[in-house]
Amino acid sequence: MSHPVSVLFVCLGNICRSPTAHGVFETLVQRQGLAEVIRIDSAGTGDWHIGRAPDPRALQAAHRRGHDITHLRARQVVADDFRHFDYILAMDHSNLGDLEAMRPHWYQGHLGLFLDFAPGLEGMAVPDPYYGGEEGFDQVFDMVDAAARGLLDHIRSHHLR
Ligand code: 4NP
Repeated sequence: MSHPVSVLFVCLGNICRSPTAHGVFETLVQRQGLAEVIRIDSAGTGDWHIGRAPDPRALQAAHRRGHDITHLRARQVVADDFRHFDYILAMDHSNLGDLEAMRPHWYQGHLGLFLDFAPGLEGMAVPDPYYGGEEGFDQVFDMVDAAARGLLDHIRSHHLR
């Protein structure tokens, strides 16, 4: 049976922010026994890192917080993603603009910023940590963790009651 709700996390490279979101949200969903209910994936708007595991700094930041995201592999967003995902959540405004440009007119799902689900961070971007230091990855983790919890609450109240 297909999953009743599906979520795609999108950033630029699919090796730092969106795999972190994917992994954190996946853990939350599994802990709440909803793995058969919510399908989760992540992708990048760019094609540079297709097939690669997450950035080692993202792996370490996730590991420090008890998450294992080593199994994830980068892929690029494709047009068909709009057929398969109810929620397409961008990490920043540039990712969102790229997705808006791809959005088919018939898409009825939710295309927006991931942090709109983090209380107090609505309208904000998860900053791109790629060219910065390790602390940027911890900051990404905190933002993503807050938004993942808010997203799961939202999905529970809008789809699962
Ligand atoms: P991400 O970070 O979009 O969070 O995966 C980046 C990864 C790679 C690049 C930029 C951002 N890059 O330019 O290769």
